[in-house]
This record gives sequence, structure tokens and C-alpha cells, in this order.
Amino acid sequence: MVRIQSATSADTNTHSSAQTGMAVETWNSPLTGNMPIHFGDGALDTLPALLQELSPDKVFLVSDPHVFDLYGAFLIHLLSSRFAPEVVLIPEGENEKKLSNLEELCEELFNRGATKSSVIVNFGGGVVLNVGGMAASLIYRGIRFVHVPTTLMAQSDVIVSNKQGVNFANGKNRLGLFSKPVAAFADPRFYNTELPRQLRASLVEYCKNAILLGGKHFETAMAYFEAGNALAPAKLRQLLRYSLEQKFEIAKLDPTERGFGLVLEYGHTVGHAVEFLSQGRVLHGEAVYHGMRVAGRLANILGIFPDAEYKKQTSLLNKIPDIQSIPADISVGQILQAVQRDNKKRDKGLAFILMQAIGQPNRRGESVLTPVPEEALQQVLLEYRDALL
Ligand SMILES: NC(=O)c1ccc[n+]([C@@H]2O[C@H](COP(=O)([O-])OP(=O)(O)OC[C@H]3O[C@@H](n4cnc5c(N)ncnc54)[C@H](O)[C@@H]3O)[C@@H](O)[C@H]2O)c1
Repeated sequence: MVRIQSATSADTNTHSSAQTGMAVETWNSPLTGNMPIHFGDGALDTLPALLQELSPDKVFLVSDPHVFDLYGAFLIHLLSSRFAPEVVLIPEGENEKKLSNLEELCEELFNRGATKSSVIVNFGGGVVLNVGGMAASLIYRGIRFVHVPTTLMAQSDVIVSNKQGVNFANGKNRLGLFSKPVAAFADPRFYNTELPRQLRASLVEYCKNAILLGGKHFETAMAYFEAGNALAPAKLRQLLRYSLEQKFEIAKLDPTERGFGLVLEYGHTVGHAVEFLSQGRVLHGEAVYHGMRVAGRLANILGIFPDAEYKKQTSLLNKIPDIQSIPADISVGQILQAVQRDNKKRDKGLAFILMQAIGQPNRRGESVLTPVPEEALQQVLLEYRDALL
């Protein structure tokens, strides 16, 4: 159920503005149609000026109750000299990333007077960004929106893509579209309140991209963990920068993310299945971690990913501490079924992104998808399941 909150009812606690440590920078990503990403401590301070430039008739702030309780007052205070945003809250969490909430959100935005001149500010984790971004893209065939991610995952991953969407018919992101925000603001001030588990899950996407790119990116990732406390605030700021660098490098190769850029989905085939089946118990990043381990082993037994390279992947993934296992009540059969439904399934069978070596995704001609026999996947899943229990 979508919840409405008056902009003036939030308490007046404000969170400190810019912290020292990371200067604000702006990068324009080719992956996002040159959409500017402002990142660094205090990056958000320029949001009011951007909104002013856009000159909207109304500003809508879409968030979830948890993020709004933590930071709603701060954001409203930041905007209050020029705007009185209408606040619309959607329920929090992966289970709520669904069509009914998207519909209610759109309805509420219309009820509260959204027009073609309005601007939506999506303020929260990946779920808020995906649902709010999709609502903005559907209303009047698309009104302007800005992403303000509050999780490391959303800052380092979600905003460096144009994908908006919701889960549907037993599958992750089955309804969605490509649509570009006007800008995104990645401000590390929000990391302080993120749960360590959530932060650890974000490290997975970073490691995934280091495996895909190899070379200096892989070495930097190994060094990142070897230098100790991966969740130290200063290090997380470094991680945001490294993650954006990785994404930009991939963007240079495939700005539309329809060819080589598909490699970003490494680990997502089994990952999405596990995430979906866990009904919110396994986080996106944790699920991708398991997905990469399965994809790595799969490529290894298929003779594509030699032992030495496979071990390098394992050694990096082993450095991420305390990743939640796959819940015992999720069977290999259920995962297989869910994988069958995955977006990347082709007429002729299953297709996975697999690695040949660190930094070298397997290619078949122009395609980065490799057909995989179902029996091989089943064997690896059973083996992986046994190793976990
Ligand atoms: N390309 C893309 O669009 C893309 C890429 C990666 C992930 N995703 C999607 O993003 C979602 C995962 O995003 P997420 O990891 O941000 O999860 P999330 O949006 O579910 O947020 C996780 C939890 O953290 C809370 N939260 C948010 N910011 C907080 C803060 N600063 N302090 C404390 N708590 C905070 C939220 O209320 C929520 O309870 C998945 O649905 C995934 O499919 C999309």
C-alpha cells in the first residue's frame, strides 16, 4: 500500500552536510546516455539547483518508510527554500517491487496532480529507484526524474544503467524498460546507517566487475580486501569510485548494454532465481555471489574456465566475508525451474554468461551467451548445494 506523507510533517532533524573525505565530481556515463552522475561527500547539496533549472510545476519525492524516517527531514530541509515536495512512500523491500505497488504509485501521483512538467525524485535503495523510475517513465509516456540512491548498491550499480522495472509472474525484473534519469546523485553520507550485511552484498557487484574486467581492476579488488576492513567508511568511498570506473570502462565498450554490456549480468541467472525464491531472505548481491560461484564452476566443468583462472575467481569471492547461504528450503529443482524462466533463456535451451579467464568473458561470435546443458547445471547446483550444507 502506498503511503502519503505531508512534506511538512517530517521532524526537523537534519543530517550533517558534506563530510570530508571525497570531493564531489561529475561524470557523464555513455552507458546512461551521458546522464550526469554527481558523486562524493556533499554531492546532494546541488540537487536544489538542478531542480530549479528544470523548473517543474511540482516536485514529488518517492521513497520508502524506512529511508524516509531516516532521511526524509534532511531532504525536505535541503529542498525547502525552493520547493515543497509532495511525498509518496512505497512499501520497502524486494517483495514489494511489484506491479500492484507500481500501479498504486502511479495512481497516487496522478491524484496528487502530477503533470508533464513535474519531476520525480526517487530517494532510496534499488527498489525505490526501480519502481519510482518505472512510474516516472510510464506517466504521460515519461516525465523527468532524478535518482538519489541511498545504498551503496544503488549508488555503485543501479544508477549506472537505464533500467527501471518490477518483478512479475515469478521472475525478477520481468516488466521494465530502459529510461534515463535527468541526473543521479551518489552521496556517501547515507552509508552510516546501512546494515553491514547490506554493504557486504554491495561488495559482490564490485568483485563481479573486477572478474569481468580483469587486469588492474582485478588487482585493485584483491588489494582492496587485503588492506583489511572492507567496510571502513573511507574504503567504501574508494569503492564507489572504483565501481563507477569499472562501469564506465564497460560502457565504453557497449553503451547500449545490449551486446558486450550483457556481461554485467554475470552470476545473475542463478542469482535472480535464488533472490526471487528466497522472498527477500537473500539480498540481490548475496544471490549474485552464489550465481557467480555456480557459473564459475559450470564453465570450469565445461572446460571453458581453466582451473588456475577459476581459482583466481574463487580467491577473490572468498575475501567477501559472511555472505548469507542459500536457504535450505530452496531446492535445486526450484532453482532450475526459476532459471528456465530467466530472461536470457533462448528457444534452444539455457544460456549463461561464462568466463574463459579473469577479464575474458566467453564469446561465441558476437554473443557473450554460452549455451549450457541442463544436466551440467543440475550437477553443479547439486554439488554447490552439498558444499553449503
Ligand atoms: N540496473 C539496475 O537497475 C539494478 C542493478 C542492481 C540492482 N538492482 C535492483 O536493486 C534492488 C536492490 O537494491 P538495494 O540493495 O539498494 O535494496 P533495497 O532498495 O531493497 O534497500 C534495502 C533496504 O535498505 C534500506 N535502506 C536504503 N537506504 C538505506 C540507508 N541509507 N540506511 C539504512 N537503510 C537503508 C531500505 O529501506 C531497504 O529496507 C534489487 O531489486 C535489484 O534487482 C537494479
